[in-house]
Amino acid sequence: MTWDFGEAQPFFDSTGSFLNCIGWIVRVTDALAAARPGDASLGDAASIDYQSRLVSTDPPYYDNIGYADLSDFFYVWLRRSLADVMPSGLGTVLTPKSDELVADPFRHEGAAQAEQFFEDGFRDVFARIRRDTPPDYPITVYYAFKQADSDDDGTASTGWQTLLEGMLRSGWEVTGTWPMRTERGGRARDIGSNALASSIVLACRPRPDDAPTFNRRTFLANLKAELPTALRDLQQGSIAPVDMAQAAIGPGMSVFSRYARVLEADGSDMTVRTALALINQVLDEVLDAAGAACLFISHDLAVVSQLCSEVVVLRGGEVVERGTAEQVFTSPSHPYAAGLVATSRLDLLRPGTRLPTLADHVGGAS
Ligand SMILES: C[S@@+](CC[C@H](N)C(=O)[O-])C[C@H]1O[C@@H](n2cnc3c(N)ncnc32)[C@H](O)[C@@H]1O
Repeated sequence: MTWDFGEAQPFFDSTGSFLNCIGWIVRVTDALAAARPGDASLGDAASIDYQSRLVSTDPPYYDNIGYADLSDFFYVWLRRSLADVMPSGLGTVLTPKSDELVADPFRHEGAAQAEQFFEDGFRDVFARIRRDTPPDYPITVYYAFKQADSDDDGTASTGWQTLLEGMLRSGWEVTGTWPMRTERGGRARDIGSNALASSIVLACRPRPDDAPTFNRRTFLANLKAELPTALRDLQQGSIAPVDMAQAAIGPGMSVFSRYARVLEADGSDMTVRTALALINQVLDEVLDAAGAACLFISHDLAVVSQLCSEVVVLRGGEVVERGTAEQVFTSPSHPYAAGLVATSRLDLLRPGTRLPTLADHVGGAS
């Protein structure tokens, strides 16, 4: 396991310090509408009782993070100090591993078996929730989409499609998706990329058992009829352009998943992958027809790197640089643009060194 951030110095007042972390928690508790005391308990998603529970989950994703292995690093110390206070959660010598939903090749005789274990477990949990929760309870599922997860055609990775397919096959209907700003601006990951500003929240409801079966033509006709209004709603809800294709999955998948099956011309079931490609295609048509664009003017480079696909840099009212966000943030050609990007890369700064300024790049600049 390789991690890209070292531990911060806890006793300074910089990012990652003790006081800084407490400050974030205080801000959240200040904003929480805490009407009644909560209760947290630990359980295996594959065996807990879902009856009369409302499920909102941020599930693991394949081998993205080895949570249990990583937890051991802290667990052994917590156990020493807290085993008497919380014996139920700290009874084992190391954290439990066998029930963990993770595609870890070392636990499953290879990568393919590990993926299978993860996908089967993921599908089983959603089938179980579908079976046991009351039919009028929705569920919400968080999905932190990264651009690296997308293919050349812009649709999400096969991994994500497999999971979505599993959820739909276990009887869930996606009734909406909404990007939520869950990642803090200014992360190193944001600079020089079109990383999504948010996680996607899928809202799902149990699909009625008597849902109809349709063919590709009807699916496409319904997409074309419903997507324009849905996209107008998303645009009015200030969805950033970079998030639009992902947000459009919501209304698109809502059309797809309300049918028990969508049949292709040869009688086979349409896959989620094909449905997503068709949704993207109709989205392009709708946006082209509207001739829509959004002009965003800002000094905040972290936000610009999240929101914009094309970037123009002005100095004294003159355009000094223009290009795709990728070009401008990774290889700016004008010294002024290079200076702006350099002064925003605090993540590259060695502790104790002076902050770069624009004047380092353009004499007398401000
Ligand atoms: C994407 S993370 C959730 C992160 C969390 N929302 C946060 O912000 O810290 C997925 C979580 O699912 C947990 N997990 C993995 N297998 C599980 C299982 N079988 N039952 C319950 N939780 C499991 C992992 O330990 C991890 O904490």
